[in-house]
Amino acid sequence: MFVQFRLFGPSELNSIIELTRNNLTERYNDFVFLDIQRTWPSAFILGMSDQTIAGFICGGLSGEKEARILMLAVDTPFRKNGIGTGLMSLFEQEALKVKADKVRLEVRTDNVEAINFYKNHGYSVSNLLPSYYNDGSDAYTMEKLLVQT
Ligand SMILES: CC(C)(COP(=O)(O)OP(=O)(O)OC[C@H]1O[C@@H](n2cnc3c(N)ncnc32)[C@H](O)[C@@H]1OP(=O)(O)O)[C@@H](O)C(=O)NCCC(=O)NCCS
Repeated sequence: MFVQFRLFGPSELNSIIELTRNNLTERYNDFVFLDIQRTWPSAFILGMSDQTIAGFICGGLSGEKEARILMLAVDTPFRKNGIGTGLMSLFEQEALKVKADKVRLEVRTDNVEAINFYKNHGYSVSNLLPSYYNDGSDAYTMEKLLVQT
């Protein structure tokens, strides 16, 4: 599968909302996506298969040196083609550019597939957050130290 990566633009908001609805369990207001994009536009990255948005990643910076992945999703038909890996890698590169030395994320404790995916990309569980999600589910915090080259 030929995939290209590029930045998200606000005109693509509806596609991102649909992708989120189909692939993530939390629901977000439109302005959340636009806020994230405004705050760190170079880390709101899309994986494109032809003209279709196959997946995306976005995040923010918390504290001086910590980047946070806020959302990562690849649409079901496009999974296991390396798109998630590509998005993670580009996000980490953006984090390095702003001198972050760590990436942090939260994941549902029952999302075994994503937890394994993150572990295979160098992330480790660092914390348990009880009732973190709106539906009362628990989250793990996972972290990876970045190495400036
Ligand atoms: C987690 C998620 C983003 C991964 O996206 P993806 O595009 O499938 O990721 P990749 O294709 O890079 O890697 C997924 C697996 O496919 C494997 N893979 C990659 N390319 C492959 C190929 N050509 N053939 C076979 N397997 C392949 C990878 O080795 C990887 O295995 P692993 O999970 O055991 O590490 C995706 O499953 C998803 O969107 N899940 C639902 C949303 C979600 O849970 N998001 C995280 C919330 S915190």
